[in-house]
Order: sequence, then structure tokens, then C-alpha cells
Amino acid sequence: MARNLLGIRLLQREDIEELLEIAGDLKLRTLEGRAVPQIHGQVLGMLFFENSTRTRVSFEQAAHYLGIKVTNFATTSSSMAKGETLKDTILTLRYERLNGLVMRHRLSGAPSLAAKYFGGPVINAGDGQHEHPTQALGDALTILERKGDLEGLIVAIVGDVKHSRVARSNAWLLSKMGAEVRFVGPRTLVPEASGALPGKIFYDLASGIDGADVIICLRLQRERMEEGLLSSIGEYTSMYQINKDTLRYADSECLVMHPGPLNRGIEVDDVAADSERSAITSQIENGIFVRMAALHWAFQADEPAPAKKKAKV
Ligand code: NCD
Repeated sequence: MARNLLGIRLLQREDIEELLEIAGDLKLRTLEGRAVPQIHGQVLGMLFFENSTRTRVSFEQAAHYLGIKVTNFATTSSSMAKGETLKDTILTLRYERLNGLVMRHRLSGAPSLAAKYFGGPVINAGDGQHEHPTQALGDALTILERKGDLEGLIVAIVGDVKHSRVARSNAWLLSKMGAEVRFVGPRTLVPEASGALPGKIFYDLASGIDGADVIICLRLQRERMEEGLLSSIGEYTSMYQINKDTLRYADSECLVMHPGPLNRGIEVDDVAADSERSAITSQIENGIFVRMAALHWAFQADEPAPAKKKAKV
């Protein structure tokens, strides 16, 4: 039986632990050059209706390592450009006998709609401002590797919370795992409604990152912003940039993270992004292993997870 991975909010703590355990096991096997459990005879449709570098390539890599075939769907050259609806497109892919879908879409909830009409598993690769579950899993694996545990950590998510699906998925995951989540940024980008998410709101950077074990920087998502949310980029940068000076407020061992793409010199400077405290390159690499775990979890819900098998493969 297949499972969908549509968002972290819908998962139990046990599901998150299972996914992270599978990812850790698959990473070890891959790095040690040992065999990785294969998923045979499956074709995965990659539906990216929005731009992507990291997420798309790491899903392709993950599928490659697992022996899954990938078929790409280019929105501009597909029948959607002729006016076909999302529902009819998904039904077409179902009867083309694709076995699973990875989907990114500018509308929140589009992958849930796809899951309704598609026969196999659907994995959300980012929907509007809603969720980006595999990004949060990759971030959690990275924090676990560097800090040993998620429970009890202070994690500050800094910047454009309003438009960020990464902020939402991370807030759900980290709070379910017992971390303290803080949202930090200007009022226009951290609206009161963010209070419905599991986290505390701070409008001042120094108090928001005070004692933080981890800072997750967010890009200003100008493609999703209406006019007037920021008086100027320079003012934003002077108040909220993570750099050598502002990092002094955080814990001395604080990790600097960013989901990418980075706008260097705006939300983060070169020193913070490239220092040894930065975990940005590990986030990219771990993206592959959590996506391998997500594919295993989604495709093989009834089979024992690879991490729990006794070193058989
Ligand atoms: C993020 C996204 O697309 O939500 N990027 C990513 O997947 N690594 C964040 C962003 O675009 O700023």
C-alpha cells in the first residue's frame, strides 16, 4: 500500500522518527558504499510547476540511488499549456500508469488535490506558502547530526515567515520533536496569524536569537510579496541580517542554516554562510537521503523500513 507525504502537520512524532531513522541508515549505507534497498519496477513523475534546483535534483538523485525511474513533466510543453486542468492532468498521469508523483506547485493544497485523483503515492515538494515536508526532514537530519538531539533546542526561524513553506514545515516538525521554535522578523513578514503556528513571535533580532542553538535564515520571497511589505531592503538587512556581529547574540555553538537559494548580503552575509558554524552544504547533501527515505516510506508502507532490517541487504 502507498502513503502520501503531503505535510509535516499531518504526521505523528513516530512517523518523523521513522523517516529520520530510515534516512540516517540510507545515508550510512550510501557513504560506506554498501548496497541500498532497491524499489524495483516503479516510475516516478516529477511535476515541478515552480522553479527548483536543490529539491528537484535531490529527488532525481534519490530515485536514481533507489533504482526508481523518473519521468519529467515540463509544464510549458505539456497539455496544461493548452488549458487542461490539474485534475485531468493528474488523471492522465494515473492512466499512463505512473506509480508515484513528486509535486511542486504555487498553490497551497495542490498536492492534496493530486493525491485525491492519483492512484499511487504523492510527495509534496513545496506547495505555495503551505508546506515543504522533505526540506524540514533534511533540516532535522542535519541538526540531529550536529547537535545529537532535537528535544530542548532553541531554533530561531528568521526572516520572511509569512511566505515561507519551509518555516511552516520546520515549525511543525521541530515542535513535535520537542524543540522551542521562534519566528523572528518584521511585523509585515511575521504576521500575528503566525501565532497559529507552533512558535513564539519576536520582532527584534537580538531577543529572537538570544541563546539560540540553531538559526534558520529565510530568503525574502519577493515573488510572493505584495507591494509595501518592506520599506527598503537596506533597512531589512540592517535589522535582520545574520552576520558576524548579530551572531554574537546566539549561543556560541549556534548552527547557521538556510534552505537556499541564498540571497547573500541580504538575509545572511558571506561570513555567516561560509563559516564552520554553517550547515548549509550539509542541508543540501542530506536532502538526498531524506528524499530516499520519503520514497521508501511512501512506496513501501507495508514493508519493514530498511533501518529496522538486520543488515541483510
Ligand atoms: C525553498 C522553497 O522553494 O520553498 N527552497 C528550497 O526548496 N530549498 C525556499 C525558498 O525558495 O526560499
